[in-house]
Amino acid sequence: MGLRESFQAGLARQLGHPSGLRGRVVGAMLNRGNRKPITEAVAALGLAGGETAVDIGFGGGLGLGLLLRRAGTVHGVEISTTMLERARRTFRREIAAGRLRLHEGPITALPLDDGSADAVVTTNTVYFVDDLDGAFAEVARVLKPGGTFVLGIGDPGTMSRSPLFTEHGFRIRPVADVEAALVRAGLDVRRHELLGGGQMGFHLLVTGPQ
Ligand SMILES: C[S@@+](CC[C@H](N)C(=O)[O-])C[C@H]1O[C@@H](n2cnc3c(N)ncnc32)[C@H](O)[C@@H]1O
Repeated sequence: MGLRESFQAGLARQLGHPSGLRGRVVGAMLNRGNRKPITEAVAALGLAGGETAVDIGFGGGLGLGLLLRRAGTVHGVEISTTMLERARRTFRREIAAGRLRLHEGPITALPLDDGSADAVVTTNTVYFVDDLDGAFAEVARVLKPGGTFVLGIGDPGTMSRSPLFTEHGFRIRPVADVEAALVRAGLDVRRHELLGGGQMGFHLLVTGPQ
């Protein structure tokens, strides 16, 4: 494997599961590089104030900070202990105040009660999830009736042109396939927004229980 391929393989691994010192750098990088899509995804939840909100696969934690500005209680779910530690340090006051709860676990087995969330957001995570139906069924399970789930994914057409994504195990799915999986999980797609402006188009699917 050449230098470039080995750098890309390492970066792809870190994007899917940031860990150690490199993971900490990746966390900061994610917050910078994904600021716009994360901000728009949180805004699309339409929080009025005081809700219970969840960010799944929060990475660098920018989404947690944005949710904490409006929601009453925020849950962060992650598989990466490095990202969990980073969030514990960044948000120690909010954790001490009981406004932020962090959980270790995957999107396919959410460590949250049935019907406990008004709002759920996840951005740039489902590329690392094989069982999309299982993941969305879990999101549907934890959402309250009338709740909102915003899913953010990079444009599959653009992603398919980059070896970083095509050669290192990312699951790049057509948006129509993702929408079909949401519907199978009992989630109506209420709105589909395409964000431009960055290096890569970004799709926001605003959904909720049928
Ligand atoms: C590319 S980062 C995206 C982070 C952040 N949401 C963003 O948009 O910048 C993917 C994150 O999802 C987490 N992740 C990967 N697979 C996951 C899973 N099955 N369940 C929950 N989180 C997962 C990773 O640990 C990582 O922090």
